[in-house]
This record gives sequence, structure tokens and C-alpha cells, in this order.
Amino acid sequence: MSQRLQSPSNIWITGASSGIGEAVTKVLVEHGHHVIVTGRRQEALDELKRSGDDKITTARADTTNREDLSAIEGSLESHGSLNMAILNAGTCEYLDVSQYDSSVIENNVVTNVVGTARSLDIALPALRRSVQKGEPATLVIVSSSAWWFPFGRAEGYGASKAALTYFAHALRADLAAEGIDVVVVSPGFVKTPLTDKNDFPMPFLVSAEDAANRIVKGLSKGKREIAFPKRFTWSLKLLGALPQTLIDRMSASMSRQQA
Ligand SMILES: NC(=O)c1ccc[n+]([C@@H]2O[C@H](COP(=O)([O-])OP(=O)(O)OC[C@H]3O[C@@H](n4cnc5c(N)ncnc54)[C@H](OP(=O)(O)O)[C@@H]3O)[C@@H](O)[C@H]2O)c1
Repeated sequence: MSQRLQSPSNIWITGASSGIGEAVTKVLVEHGHHVIVTGRRQEALDELKRSGDDKITTARADTTNREDLSAIEGSLESHGSLNMAILNAGTCEYLDVSQYDSSVIENNVVTNVVGTARSLDIALPALRRSVQKGEPATLVIVSSSAWWFPFGRAEGYGASKAALTYFAHALRADLAAEGIDVVVVSPGFVKTPLTDKNDFPMPFLVSAEDAANRIVKGLSKGKREIAFPKRFTWSLKLLGALPQTLIDRMSASMSRQQA
């Protein structure tokens, strides 16, 4: 049985000021864990803290900013060894190809890939110290299943999450010998402020609370890949296994319907 989350643990979660991160924080606190919550909006973090009192520590930081991250490094171990870092902060900006603008691609990649990579500058040394003390250490990277199929307008978001997943899987290989587990979370559509902006149908949409319960359950069971809801992720996997010419045709037809 996995040792993960079996006893009260210290967990850092980025992107906790809304959506999935906020919901995961609440579930972890209910289970008796201590959570260090990060986001750029201090007021939202303060509100979350009020729901969990002394089980929640706020640490405001923009994860794309090295100085912000250095400034909160000490907070990660303020309640003992860091047992888990959940790197969840992210954005989703869609491209209007008729007004092609590479800054859309850049914004997705900087927040989702570079921000996650920079968060590791402070998470990894702390996780290594936990391993040295014989404590469990897990790195959780929140990616997406969106990149499993080429959706129109998602050039920037999909590319960033594909890169992020590769990054996580390669890290898993490199960190295995050190005893640091790397988990990839690949949600389908989850109702959050991020998806409230979407102007298209979102099949098999789940609530943030449902997503949080699935994530914490998967982590507790020792899973390294957490993808949900299954009806959505299996459909995408099947579509992604089709010959490329068929994928291209379906993808172009979906893109025309959205236009
Ligand atoms: N919702 C979905 O359907 C879905 C599906 C698959 C994957 N995901 C992924 O799940 C993660 C959470 O998304 P969500 O749906 O919960 O969206 P959300 O409600 O918009 O939450 C995004 C969080 O990331 C934080 N954040 C964004 N940029 C940041 C930065 N530069 N520095 C620090 N924090 C930053 C935001 O906090 P501040 O604004 O306070 O900085 C917020 O707490 C993202 O990685 C997203 O790609 C979501």
C-alpha cells in the first residue's frame, strides 16, 4: 500500500485561489493535512484560509516569477518536511487563427510550462530533504487530457500541456532513483472560473469538488496517472489512436462547426 497521504502531511499547492486547486485544498484539509496555498490574489488565499484556519498557510507568489518563488521558499517547510507539491497553477488562452498572435502561445507556455518548472526550483530541494528523513515525497503535476486530440483554437494550451506532460514523465524517470514519485493529473472538463469562459459545449463536465475528490483518492491510492472522467478520457484515447488522416478530418470539421 502507498504511504502517500496515509498520515498528516505537509503539501504545497499552486493555483489554490480558485477552481481545482481551491477544491483540492479543502479536501486535503478535511483529511487532516496541512496545506501551503499559492496564487497571485492574496484576498482569495485569505478567504480560503478562513475555511481551514491553522491547517492552511498562504504564500502569495506568481509562479512565473523567480523572485516571488524565492521569497516563499521558507514557507514550504514552516510546518515540517514537505511531503507533496501539487503544481496546479495554469491558464488557458485560445487562439483566433484569423488574428494570429504568437503571444497567445507564449502566455500558455510561460504559465503552464515555465511556471511549473520554476516552482520546482523551490519544491525539489524541499522534497529531497523529506526523502533524506525517510518521509514520502511526491511531485504532482496538473496537466490536461486536452492535448490528446488536436482541438482547433487550442494550439497554445494543448502544446503547453503536451510539453508539461513530457516534462513530468521525463522527471519521473530521473527522480525514480531518488525515491521521489511523480504523478500526472489529466482532467477532462471541470467547472471552474477557467472553463466558465468557454463558449462551446463541454462534454462530461464535472464539478471542481468531484475533480478534487478523484485527485485526492488517486493520490492516496498511490496512482501515478490520474485521468478523469473516464468516459471523456477513453473517448479521447480512442480518437487519438485513429489514422492521422481521419484525425485531421474530424478535427477540421469540429473547427468549422465552432467558427
Ligand atoms: N478546468 C478544467 O476543465 C481543466 C481541465 C484540465 C486541466 N485543467 C488544469 O487545472 C489547473 C487549474 O485550473 P482551474 O480550472 O482550476 O482554473 P482556475 O480556477 O482559473 O485556477 C487557476 C489557478 O492558477 C492560478 N494561477 C494562474 N496563473 C498563475 C501564476 N502566474 N502564478 C500563480 N498562480 C497562477 C490562479 O490564481 P491567481 O489568479 O490568484 O494567480 C488560480 O488559482 C490548470 O493547470 C488547468 O490547466 C483544468
